[in-house]
Amino acid sequence: MVEYPGKLIVFEGPDGAGKTTQVKLAAERLQNMGYSVLMTREPGGTRLSEMIRQLLLDSDNREMSPVTEALLYASARSQLVAEVILPALTAGKIVLCDRFVDSSLAYQGFGRGLDLEMLRQVNRFALNRLGRFCTILLDLPPEEGLKRGKKREKDRLEQEDITFHQRVWDGYHFLVKKYPERIRVVDASSQPELVHQQVWKHLIAFIKGSHQGGVF
Ligand code: TYD
Repeated sequence: MVEYPGKLIVFEGPDGAGKTTQVKLAAERLQNMGYSVLMTREPGGTRLSEMIRQLLLDSDNREMSPVTEALLYASARSQLVAEVILPALTAGKIVLCDRFVDSSLAYQGFGRGLDLEMLRQVNRFALNRLGRFCTILLDLPPEEGLKRGKKREKDRLEQEDITFHQRVWDGYHFLVKKYPERIRVVDASSQPELVHQQVWKHLIAFIKGSHQGGVF
């Protein structure tokens, strides 16, 4: 594993947990403190990864097999890591990423039922010796998240039934136990500003070095 001068912080959680809002609040505050911040998201964040995102989320692509889905997420990730994340970390930036590899374990592993060890291997390959990072899990029961996201049209994964989203949620909680050094949990049920205060505690501890994070 390579350690870089920058830091990677990932925001995870079920659909509708407010990750995008929290990434923005954290980025603004870090920038005001003088940090150089890069915001990105998964699947996406590069030209190729955004093209793969279209394939993944298009609700017409009903025939996509779970393995194809897992490999496409890993491909989009590999491109993002190589083209954006590693250069930014090398330049000493703080990278805030909306979803990352834990999403694959939760959605493709627990949601789709794919073998976790296989997913881990494929994703380690995609991560290309990425070092330590920190994951902040915005914790919200899936029925709450789905209710919040009701207003816009649902993508291919959001259209899965509630039992799928329940398995994803259970998956995240399994990952919290498996990677206690890397994943921090924040209750996402309150107002964005209150959630941000909890997020901030963990994030600044990781940036200042009192929380080491962990590898994947
Ligand atoms: P996104 O559109 O960013 O949704 P949200 O705003 O809810 O985060 O994410 C796209 C969907 O892709 C989301 O339902 C979760 C899913 N996903 C996976 O299944 N596996 C993955 O590895 C990633 C990164 C996302």
